[in-house]
Amino acid sequence: MTLRRVNVIILVLLAVAFLIIVQRNLLNFSDFFHKEHPDTGVVLPFESELSLDLRLELERKGEEIPVLITAVEERLGGVIAVMNSVYQNSKANVVFTIVTLNDTVDHLNTWLSRTKLKNIKYNIVLFNTEPLSGRISKDPQVLEAVKLLSFARFYLPAYIPNAEKAIYLDDDIIVQGDIQELYETNLKPGHAAAFSDDCDSASAKGIVRGAGNQNNYIGYLDFKKEAIKKLGMRANTCSFNPGVIIANLTEWKNQNITRQLEHWMELNTQEDLYSKTLAESISTPPLLIVFYKRHATIDPMWHVRHLGATGAGNRYSPQFVKAAKLLHWNGHYKPWGRPSSFFDVWDKWFIPDPTGKFHPVRRHTGDN
Ligand SMILES: *[C@@H]1O[C@H](CO)[C@@H](O)[C@H](O)[C@H]1NC(C)=O
Ligand SMILES: *[C@@H]1O[C@H](CO)[C@@H](O)[C@H](O)[C@H]1NC(C)=O
Ligand SMILES: *[C@@H]1O[C@H](CO)[C@@H](O)[C@H](O)[C@H]1NC(C)=O
Ligand SMILES: *[C@@H]1O[C@H](CO)[C@@H](O)[C@H](O)[C@H]1NC(C)=O
Repeated sequence: MTLRRVNVIILVLLAVAFLIIVQRNLLNFSDFFHKEHPDTGVVLPFESELSLDLRLELERKGEEIPVLITAVEERLGGVIAVMNSVYQNSKANVVFTIVTLNDTVDHLNTWLSRTKLKNIKYNIVLFNTEPLSGRISKDPQVLEAVKLLSFARFYLPAYIPNAEKAIYLDDDIIVQGDIQELYETNLKPGHAAAFSDDCDSASAKGIVRGAGNQNNYIGYLDFKKEAIKKLGMRANTCSFNPGVIIANLTEWKNQNITRQLEHWMELNTQEDLYSKTLAESISTPPLLIVFYKRHATIDPMWHVRHLGATGAGNRYSPQFVKAAKLLHWNGHYKPWGRPSSFFDVWDKWFIPDPTGKFHPVRRHTGDN
């Protein structure tokens, strides 16, 4: 190529970049595009080729929305899909805090930095197992990583120290709405957190009764134990699902929520307070006790649950699943695992692992 041709190409590129800026600012192009193609997320033409200056122009400003997720090596694809869905469906200034173990940090960093997620704002924080020793019946070193990290949500103010309000999300979730809307969930004074009740009408039809699918307090706690009786809680109270939490961290700290949760963990190691049928969520019972009748509620469409329960997803119509703002595959069948309900919805947000370590299990893909 001659020098002149290179000059011409540079000029043309500059002109195109200039036009994109003008179009975005004058015609509100990104909003227009977002409305026309809500399923594809905002994909501006040439976005990946924009120069650094132009990318900075696209940087998200405004109030930060802190979102905490935990990352476990064997479920890392879930974390990626959650982050991607949150980011693409919102223009808000989302900042992720990812709590993980040290053997996952490099993998996660690679996945985020070598894919289209590279502009996402995130901090990786190592999970601190210290507060758990003596508070869970097993040695934290031998507890499965998933179970271990499920306690991270007890320590929200410690992991996000400067925030007033924050969102916690499980890793088996897809967010289809604008996370800003969830963030604006109103918490009254005295309420440190909002959760979704397990009996709310939107998700109730997804419930399959039986072991592991409790929807009231007696499914989680042993009401024959004195320490539980003394609390005077009604055993048939609807439980809530702590896979999505909106927290007022000021209230959380004022009420010493973390300390209270630790107290119930400790007592459980001595007196075995949890229900015998409790299947997976060993971090749920302390939350149910501490937040009994003292929490705000989340809009039911912002936490549509049970997509991972046996056969449950089939009870939802595709229209309902499409209308949901947030989908949660709680239960045994994860969307990256053996064909689960509506895994095609999850696949839209999954980004393949550049290291090749993680593969969703799919029937027709040839890999795995
Ligand atoms: C773009 O459009 C939205 C409504 O769709 C409006 O709220 C916003 O102010 C507009 N932005 C600009 C820069 O015109
Ligand atoms: C992770 O941290 C533990 C405790 O600090 C250490 O023993 C272990 O070697 C670390 N593992 C890796 C992969 O760095
Ligand atoms: C959090 O709670 C404190 C104490 O009740 C209150 O002053 C503050 O306005 C709340 N913040 C938000 C964002 O709701
Ligand atoms: C929280 O803990 C602090 C320090 O331990 C204590 O002074 C305060 O009274 C406690 N607040 C509540 C509401 O229990």
